[in-house]
Amino acid sequence: MTDRTIRVLDTTLRDGEQTPGVSLNPQEKLEIAKALDRLGVDVIEAGFPISSKGEQEAIREISRAGLRAEVSGLARAENVDIDSAISCGVNGIHVFLSSSDIHLKHQFHLTREEMLKKSADAVRYAKGFGVKVEFSAMDATRTDMEFYKQVVKAVSDAGADRFDIPDTVGIATPQLAVEYVKAARSVSDIMISMHCHNDYGLAVANSLAGVVAGADQAHVTINGIGERSGNTSLEEFVMACHNLYGFRTNINYQLLYETSRLVNRLTGVPIQPNKAIIGENAFGHESGIHTHGLLENPSTYEPFDPSMVGRTRWLQAGKHAGRHGISAQLRGMGLKPKEDSLRLIVDRVKEMGDKGATVTDSDLYQVAVQIMGGGTAEKNELVELEGLEVVTGIKRLPTATVKLLVRGHLYEATEVGAGAVDAAVNAIQKIFSNIETVHLKDYRLEALTGDSNAVADVTVRVEDDSGNEASGRGMKRDIVVASVEAIVAGTNVLLAKKLDKKSLVSEGATGNMEGV
Ligand code: KIV
Ligand code: ZN
Repeated sequence: MTDRTIRVLDTTLRDGEQTPGVSLNPQEKLEIAKALDRLGVDVIEAGFPISSKGEQEAIREISRAGLRAEVSGLARAENVDIDSAISCGVNGIHVFLSSSDIHLKHQFHLTREEMLKKSADAVRYAKGFGVKVEFSAMDATRTDMEFYKQVVKAVSDAGADRFDIPDTVGIATPQLAVEYVKAARSVSDIMISMHCHNDYGLAVANSLAGVVAGADQAHVTINGIGERSGNTSLEEFVMACHNLYGFRTNINYQLLYETSRLVNRLTGVPIQPNKAIIGENAFGHESGIHTHGLLENPSTYEPFDPSMVGRTRWLQAGKHAGRHGISAQLRGMGLKPKEDSLRLIVDRVKEMGDKGATVTDSDLYQVAVQIMGGGTAEKNELVELEGLEVVTGIKRLPTATVKLLVRGHLYEATEVGAGAVDAAVNAIQKIFSNIETVHLKDYRLEALTGDSNAVADVTVRVEDDSGNEASGRGMKRDIVVASVEAIVAGTNVLLAKKLDKKSLVSEGATGNMEGV
């Protein structure tokens, strides 16, 4: 670990919100700002105050929330923008003006000299309010190097606290990022930031190259959301800083996943499953060779322990799976088959995988219970679907009534939703809110044939508050029934996973299952 602490400026609420189609209301922005503050970011770029009344309202609320982080507002190098930010109560202003000839000529119609003067004037004006001022030379990485140095000097002399290097169109390479950091450092000892876009997938690499070359701070967004291909992803950047480069940050790494989920839920921007750190598959393992190694020692196939970022490891049954992995999965569900049965279970799982099926936890549970001689898994179920009624139509709110038998007790709930499936899911969640913490984490639907009586194949992932997860499947012609069955199936495995060791079900000498 070095003694350098790299600062984090989070711009999820500004550049992140510029993701096409994303628009957050003031309440949502405040909720994210509070989460970012808990996460430990140094600066929250709360928005672009001049852009709308709603934006001003949100930034005002965030400024008033008593957060530990600096709350900054974006402003063009115009007094009217700076006034607007100040009126929202921010304690930081991020002033920007382009420095590249392409932007000066085609967008701003300014000469280089005019750009220098306008930038320095704006910094001086903003500093007059006693706030922190960061200046961004937009499109810095396409700016003539000698002129760029004049810009750094001019805004430093005008009193800026930090100079930001935006790679506005994401064309920098790590080598270029280093050159621009060194050039800024050669004319000023002001704090330097990196602001990288991900057009070539290099945003994190460029930000890291920048901080290694001496930059003090990086602009990042949760889940890497932002204009076009997005910005430097906060979670990837900070984990690489800490684990690979030995830099400190002020981030509480354990909150990374929950913060990512919050932003995902409120912005609606999907996260690719293979995304580093926060993608669903980041700590999921299927291959037999990997799971075997992992079970001996997780460091064989994991770069770091998932709990470091608030996550848990999970194993997936499928055609690449092996005996060790399947056996561990079954133990986690409270089942301990004999060797012969385990071999049969693995063969059956591989057969299913070879047919192209995703083998969910509930599929594995069913297969294991059948092979272990327990008949159908239904006998062992803790949750059973007793009834389902749905009312829907054009002029009425879709409403669902669900009846579940949970450990022998009958529960019933009626809920409305955006559609019939949503209403049924809400009713199930309502039932569980009183007994067990079970949330729906992921929902996927596939139609198995192309016509209107196609079989709906629903797979879900459910989780409890301790981070335990289980996947379940439901297949029916009726999409609502398939969805409910999938959740019930996943929940059964989740509850089975929670049973303590005393109730581990071993296979008896006769091949039947017995509790031990
Ligand atoms: O990408 C960019 O150049 C920006 C500036 C406003 C800093 O977002
Ligand atoms: Zn940007």
